[in-house]
Amino acid sequence: MKNRHLIDLDCYTLEEINDILQLAKMIMKKPSYYTDSCHGKVLATLFYEPSTRTQMSFQTAMLRLGGSVIGFDNPGNSSVSKGETLKDTVRVVSNYADIIAMRNPLEGAAKAASMYSRSPIINAGDGGHLHPTQTLADLFTLLETKGTLSNLTVGFCGDLKFGRTVHSLVKTLCRYEGNKFVLISTKELGLPDYVKDIIVQSKCEYTEVSSLSEAMPHLDVLYMTRIQQERFNSVEEYEQQKGVFVLDSEKLKLAKYGLKILHPLPKIDEIAEEVDDDPRAVYFDQTEYGMYARMALILNMLDGDEHKVDTRPQSNADLICSNPKCITHAETYLPKIYKKSGNEMFCEYCDHSN
Ligand code: CP
Repeated sequence: MKNRHLIDLDCYTLEEINDILQLAKMIMKKPSYYTDSCHGKVLATLFYEPSTRTQMSFQTAMLRLGGSVIGFDNPGNSSVSKGETLKDTVRVVSNYADIIAMRNPLEGAAKAASMYSRSPIINAGDGGHLHPTQTLADLFTLLETKGTLSNLTVGFCGDLKFGRTVHSLVKTLCRYEGNKFVLISTKELGLPDYVKDIIVQSKCEYTEVSSLSEAMPHLDVLYMTRIQQERFNSVEEYEQQKGVFVLDSEKLKLAKYGLKILHPLPKIDEIAEEVDDDPRAVYFDQTEYGMYARMALILNMLDGDEHKVDTRPQSNADLICSNPKCITHAETYLPKIYKKSGNEMFCEYCDHSN
């Protein structure tokens, strides 16, 4: 992989993903060997939405590789507040930075940015859609703690509808052999159909349950998630969903000895305090593994020739995406691009069925 964007991990082969994970392991074992690897290179972090882990782990990753960091974490302090479009911001920043990690609350924003950037764009989270570098952190955590990415029974619990880390991780884990998914959520916060379709098309299986206790004895991995308050249309809708699933020491008594508990963090009230000290909880280690995974990704993406702007696609349908959170509504100059599957048209930016 040389100088490509990372919008969705499905653009990378499993071999390429495994190479990044292997490099992360090498960096973790011998970090001093890599301290000058990105000397003279600049990473821009453009965060239109709050972040602790993703932004800081990208920044520390680049600094630990000997590179430098620019960017903003509050678009209100940038010319975005004066009405600058995403494409103009990206065109300018890609004159300053060799690589750009971008988070935006709108779905498909990273893909949109990649069409106008001279530097590789990394999707650091686009609304409730995808979060591929969290997946690299999650995969590396699973490799280090379970020793495999195959033949695992993985429970995903909480907000599977808006949880972008869940979408990216499920899509990637179903490319590995023999994984089974137990989807634990309320009816309202279930996994989107397009992600379920991807599981069905793979050789993996899933079941849907509404009880964490019922699922617990079967799991090798439990991936807990926060209810994503910021994605709801009203406080009332959020209030109905919060607190439904709480992992505590009583439920842990039902679990396998070898269970590993992951969480992309931040966590709010879905994990009781006492669980933090259980050796099966690996979510704080996961944040460190994420840093090594991002170091490996940066090295991998910068190891190549001069980046060229991709040929911009032409509109291929006269359709307005029906997803109100799609980037195409805010950045109206974007070409309207859709992929056809059966009788349905899916927006190329946000994967929404139209
Ligand atoms: N896991 C994750 O994306 O955390 P932040 O929102 O703090 O970056």
